[in-house]
Amino acid sequence: MNRAANKNKVFDHKDLLSIDELSAEDIMTVLNYAKMFEEVNERTIKKVPALRGKTVCNLFLEPSTRTRGSFELAEKRLSCDTVNAGGSASSTVKGESLVDTIKTLDSMKVDMFIVRHKYAGTPYIVSQHTNAAVIDAGDGKHQHPTQALLDLYTIWKKKGSFDGLKVGIVGDIVHSRVCGSLVPALAKLGAEVTLIAPATMLPACPEVLGAAHVTANLDEALPDLDVVYMLRIQMERLEEAPFPSLREYHLLYGLTKEREPLMKQDAIICHPGPINRGVELDSYMADGSHSVITDQVFSGVCVRMALIYLLLGGANDEISA
Ligand code: CP
Repeated sequence: MNRAANKNKVFDHKDLLSIDELSAEDIMTVLNYAKMFEEVNERTIKKVPALRGKTVCNLFLEPSTRTRGSFELAEKRLSCDTVNAGGSASSTVKGESLVDTIKTLDSMKVDMFIVRHKYAGTPYIVSQHTNAAVIDAGDGKHQHPTQALLDLYTIWKKKGSFDGLKVGIVGDIVHSRVCGSLVPALAKLGAEVTLIAPATMLPACPEVLGAAHVTANLDEALPDLDVVYMLRIQMERLEEAPFPSLREYHLLYGLTKEREPLMKQDAIICHPGPINRGVELDSYMADGSHSVITDQVFSGVCVRMALIYLLLGGANDEISA
C-alpha cells in the first residue's frame, strides 16, 4: 500500500505493530504525553477536541474488557468518531474474510484500526490492506505493545526511573504476549528483568526476550525485586497442563499473604488482568497495599490517548481544553 507518512515530528511512526518498533526515546515520548493526558482524565469534563474529525475502528475479534474499554474511552476523550466492528455482531461470523472486512471498513474512510485477534501477525496483515494507521491490541501470544506501554507508565510513576530497576515476571512466560512486549521494553530502558517460572512455562530461548536472569525459584527471587509482575496462566493457549495441578502451581508460584514478608516494603505488584484469584495471586495481595493493578487500568486510558494522538499526527504539543 502507498502509505502516507505521519507528519508528527516527535513520533515518526505510522502504526504500532510491535514494541520493537519503538526506541527508548519513542517510549519516553509516549509516557510523557500520557502524563499530559492523565491531567485531562482527572478533569470533570474528560474530553479534548484534539482529534475531531478522525475516525477510529475497533476491530476486536477476541474477548477483551480492559483493552477494548480503555481504547474506546481514549478515542471518545480525544473527540474521535468510533466504530466497533468486531465480535458476534460483525459479518465475520457469516464467513466474511478478514481482508474483505478491512477493505469494507477502509472504504468508509477510517483513519485508524485497533486490532485484537487470536492469531499472531493479524495486525500486520491488516496494515497491508489499508492506508489507515494500525495499532496491535494483542495478537495471539506474539505482542501486546500498548499493555507494555501502560505497564511502563505505571512503573515509571511509582518508581521514577527504570535504570537498574529489578523487575521479576512470574508465571506463564511462554504463552504471554504481554511478556513479548514488556520484557524487551524494560531491557531497552535499563531495567534488570528476571523471568520466574517452571521450565515448562518458559520459551526455548528465554534470553532472546532480553531478560537478565531466569529462575524457577520465586522465594529466592522475591527479596530482590522492586516490581513483581504476575501473569495469568493462559488456559486458552494450552493444549495440556504444564504443571501437575493448579494447587501445586499456586503453592510454588502463587503470590500469597505468606510470601508478603519476603518482599521489599516498597515493592509493587503488577498484573495485566484478568486475574485468576487463588491461582497466581490471592485476593489479599491483589487488593493489598503493594498492588498497583487498578493504577495499571487507569494508565491504559492515558497511554492509549497519548498513542492515538501521536499516531494520528496531533498537530502540536498543545492539548487544548
Ligand atoms: N490486559 C488485557 O489485555 O486485558 P483484556 O483482555 O481484558 O483486554
